[in-house]
Amino acid sequence: MKRTRTSKAWMSEHVNDHYVQRAKAEGWRSRAAFKLMEIDDKLRLLRPGMTVVDLGAAPGSWAQVAVKRIQPGGHLIAVDLLPMEPIAGATMIEGDFGEDEVLRQVATALAGSPADLVLSDMAPNMSGIALSDQARSIYLAELTLDFCRLHLKTGGHMVVKVFQGSGFMELRSAIATLFAVVQVEKPAASRGRSAETYLVARQKRGGGA
Ligand SMILES: C[S@@+](CC[C@H](N)C(=O)[O-])C[C@H]1O[C@@H](n2cnc3c(N)ncnc32)[C@H](O)[C@@H]1O
Repeated sequence: MKRTRTSKAWMSEHVNDHYVQRAKAEGWRSRAAFKLMEIDDKLRLLRPGMTVVDLGAAPGSWAQVAVKRIQPGGHLIAVDLLPMEPIAGATMIEGDFGEDEVLRQVATALAGSPADLVLSDMAPNMSGIALSDQARSIYLAELTLDFCRLHLKTGGHMVVKVFQGSGFMELRSAIATLFAVVQVEKPAASRGRSAETYLVARQKRGGGA
């Protein structure tokens, strides 16, 4: 049976509500926690002792998940335009990741050793103009990729949110030049959000950090 627009919208709301309720019950700051958990349960990216950079981290549910999974000995650096409540084991940086000053602060927090894993759940403020939202999403993913070129160790991994649409294939190709393995993940908690996907890139090639 072909789904009508209304039943699709209902389904999307229903999925959304389910994860919102679960997040509340389990103490996660947002339902986004389930997206990272699903990706990580499948691919086992987070390991004890890792240094992780979490971009677009507010309100902090990915940071909550990551900090748990990298203990003992792990360190997380979380960046967002918005302020975040502190999390033990995390350094919080407030500012625009596109600005040099914020990049400098992240580099200082890394204290000279490259990250093992870079996560980005950054999303543009939606203007409602599809073309410009799409371009902005690609731009944020490109910023993340540039950061990995400089501050991710060889053999390290990246997870980046990006909207599927114009520029997606080019971005994926650019990622494939830096990483040996690139795959698209669409976690269940993300299903309500039509264009949102995650590119998971593993095993950064040598020659960089
Ligand atoms: C979907 S939310 C992230 C949710 C988060 N992963 C969590 O689990 O709580 C996207 C975030 O990206 C942030 N963001 C968007 N553009 C940014 C930028 N240029 N620099 C830093 N953060 C940015 C927004 O402020 C927003 O908090």
